[in-house]
Amino acid sequence: MSGGMGGSSNGNYGGGRSGNDEAAALPPPPPPAVRPPGREHDVSTDTLDDETVRRKNVLQSWSTVLAKNDASWDVLQAEKRAGWESEAVDWRWRQRDATFGHGGSSKVDRVNNRGMVPSTRKYVVFYREWMPKLAPELFGRAADESRPRVFADVGSAPGGMCEYLVGDLGWSGFAFSLAPGDEGFGMQFASPRLAYADSDVSVAGEWRRLLDLVGGRAVCDFVNGGVVIDRGQQRVEPSEASDTLAMEHHLEIYRNELLLGLHALRPGGALYFAYQLGQTALLMRLLLALRPAFASVRVTPTFAVGRTPMYVWLGGYAGLETAAAAAAVRFLSETPVADAAVEEVGEKTGGGGGGCAWDAWHQSEWSAEVASLHRELRESLAHVWTTQADHLRKQRLEAEHAFESGKGGKGGGKGGGKGRW
Ligand SMILES: C[S@@+](CC[C@H](N)C(=O)[O-])C[C@H]1O[C@@H](n2cnc3c(N)ncnc32)[C@H](O)[C@@H]1O
Repeated sequence: MSGGMGGSSNGNYGGGRSGNDEAAALPPPPPPAVRPPGREHDVSTDTLDDETVRRKNVLQSWSTVLAKNDASWDVLQAEKRAGWESEAVDWRWRQRDATFGHGGSSKVDRVNNRGMVPSTRKYVVFYREWMPKLAPELFGRAADESRPRVFADVGSAPGGMCEYLVGDLGWSGFAFSLAPGDEGFGMQFASPRLAYADSDVSVAGEWRRLLDLVGGRAVCDFVNGGVVIDRGQQRVEPSEASDTLAMEHHLEIYRNELLLGLHALRPGGALYFAYQLGQTALLMRLLLALRPAFASVRVTPTFAVGRTPMYVWLGGYAGLETAAAAAAVRFLSETPVADAAVEEVGEKTGGGGGGCAWDAWHQSEWSAEVASLHRELRESLAHVWTTQADHLRKQRLEAEHAFESGKGGKGGGKGGGKGRW
């Protein structure tokens, strides 16, 4: 899921261009549709309004407290800073932009099928490796095949997960993905055992329509939330600040994927979803809400290490009828996404409104509950973050090597005749 597909908006897992991500792969065959936004440290807080600065500070506080409690996160943040501060990495990006274009002048145009058109192959290879490791009882040789398994896959195109589940394992299922007319990828896998419908899960409440399409509650053994937002798939071109901070679009997607999962899964079923953002304050809040309704939780890397940080696995669903699931549903469906909605809730309850929807979705402090969840996740998070840090370091060192030895071609490297460049 991952971001295998072109320039995911936060694929640099930094909330703002991490600087070294993908840079050293130049020329990268094929390039992402658009490079990530400018480097985080380029965003002058002078140009941001007070609320945006406040939110950045909340994310930073969470990152700092997490770094104190998790060495692998600390190492990853240090590597990101090294990338942001590296002239060589910036130089790589300029080279890349000169070759492939950037923003409106990008030479990669997925609408017209130029540039990156992902195939299912890499996904299938990835899932063949990971799914049996995550849940041998569902995907492995020991799986019970007496009952045909059913799945729902949201953000399914090009169809690698479906190909794996239907083609390899013989399951049947439902696939939903952004329509090609809306810049979705389009399915490359089809089967009589797979029903498909276009769907835009950034639309509030879309999960209810999808639940009807899969045939109602408690019918699925597995729900996959595979949506990764490509820049071209965002309605609004994100700014530096909103790329880090604007949550509504992402939130609606997580809400739809997770609410579909909580309703469509049978007891014992499993939920898997891609977490695309570089910041983890939202992830922690989502997991605090979901964890009690499942028997196990862990994270895994993705095959597109440079774009989508991780997938989250929640296995052994307790079932919609349980108090834990009901609480998770309540959190996801009743927590306002927009500040205006917070005020409406306040007025209805006589609470006087005020407050901030954004804060309700972001963990800012360490607590006993966080510590307990972190203990469970520590090992798999370390694997994900160490993989990312290694990837970023390798790219930065390669960029620095090329920069120093002046292999960058015209205008590249130190003394390239362009002032600092
Ligand atoms: C990383 S790909 C998923 C890959 C897929 N799981 C596979 O195995 O082939 C992400 C998908 O999410 C889709 N997507 C992006 N925004 C979406 C949205 N708002 N609603 C539904 N799908 C969306 C993209 O078009 C793309 O097909």
